[in-house]
Amino acid sequence: MVVTVVVGGFFGDEGKGKVISHLARVDKPDIVVRGGAGPNAGHTIRSGNNTYKVRMLPCGFLNKSSRVMIGPGVVINPTVLYDEIKKFGVGGRVFVDRNCGIIEQSHLDMDTRGELKDKIGSTGSGTGPANADRAMRTLKLVHDLEEMETITLDVPGEIDAVVRAGGDVLVEGTQGTFLSLWHGTYPYVTSKDVTASGICADVGIGPTTVDNVIMVVKAFVTRVGTGPLDNELSPQETVRRGWAERGTVTNRTRRAAEFDYDLGRRAVMLNGADQLALTKLDILFPECSKVTSYDILSTEARLFIKTIERKLGIPVTIIGTGPEDTSVIDRRG
Ligand code: IMP
Ligand code: MG
Repeated sequence: MVVTVVVGGFFGDEGKGKVISHLARVDKPDIVVRGGAGPNAGHTIRSGNNTYKVRMLPCGFLNKSSRVMIGPGVVINPTVLYDEIKKFGVGGRVFVDRNCGIIEQSHLDMDTRGELKDKIGSTGSGTGPANADRAMRTLKLVHDLEEMETITLDVPGEIDAVVRAGGDVLVEGTQGTFLSLWHGTYPYVTSKDVTASGICADVGIGPTTVDNVIMVVKAFVTRVGTGPLDNELSPQETVRRGWAERGTVTNRTRRAAEFDYDLGRRAVMLNGADQLALTKLDILFPECSKVTSYDILSTEARLFIKTIERKLGIPVTIIGTGPEDTSVIDRRG
């Protein structure tokens, strides 16, 4: 039995989607379950010739033997969810908890104007206003909507049954550590805690049930929206280095900075992470593109990895070397 939690170590967009897709494909967990805020998160997965962009579906959906679920802590936009289920043909094995929150038009309206949009640079997905209504105990939940009954489950109960039977569960976090409402760069944060503990609470797993916490960090730091970013590069320099990216949900250009060891070390602490997944190594070291074996990485790339391990204090067990979910070095042993 293995319960693995995957979280982001910086400001989101670390490449969790690709890492989770790899883990789901290789480990074939019985359940892949998503925690985190809501459809403010966007994940891009490239598998074979296909590019999948998801905002509600758990990224592990490409492994056909996994049931995929959304935990009660998450707020759902039913339109987005049903569109993705249909588009990617995953009906029949996607389930939401009866206590997931529901985003309505009023939340979308509130999130696309005013303070949240202008000052915080929110994604406009309605996630923050829905969580505010939840705190006010006025938000509708899944069990209030008859039309969602066919995909509704007791998600914590299902996870518990799998764990008791000796099965495997992959828990996917969204956003990143420093977007946490508790531990991030408040007020420039999302509307929830998104560290490993928060993600576990979202899906109904207690701390003693977790075996591994894999923290995903990218080879450089990016941030979309407002808020502090130490050693931020100019947009020109970001482009020159080939680090320019655009947001999956908002299509905004992402701000960028070099890998931040201090931030990484603090994120390891906050998440209780025991291993790291390092993504986009090929962007820093193009000679490592699509490499799947550690031994043939360049000396410079290996030195970078060793420096991260030394400064953050835990091993880098998964390394991303290209956008496809097969461009991965997996040293978990
Ligand atoms: P909200 O979560 O839509 O309220 O946005 C609050 C802040 O978090 C903004 O700076 C967003 O850009 C950022 N944010 C929220 N979700 C994500 C994500 O999944 N990736 C990156 N940034 C995010
Ligand atoms: Mg993203």
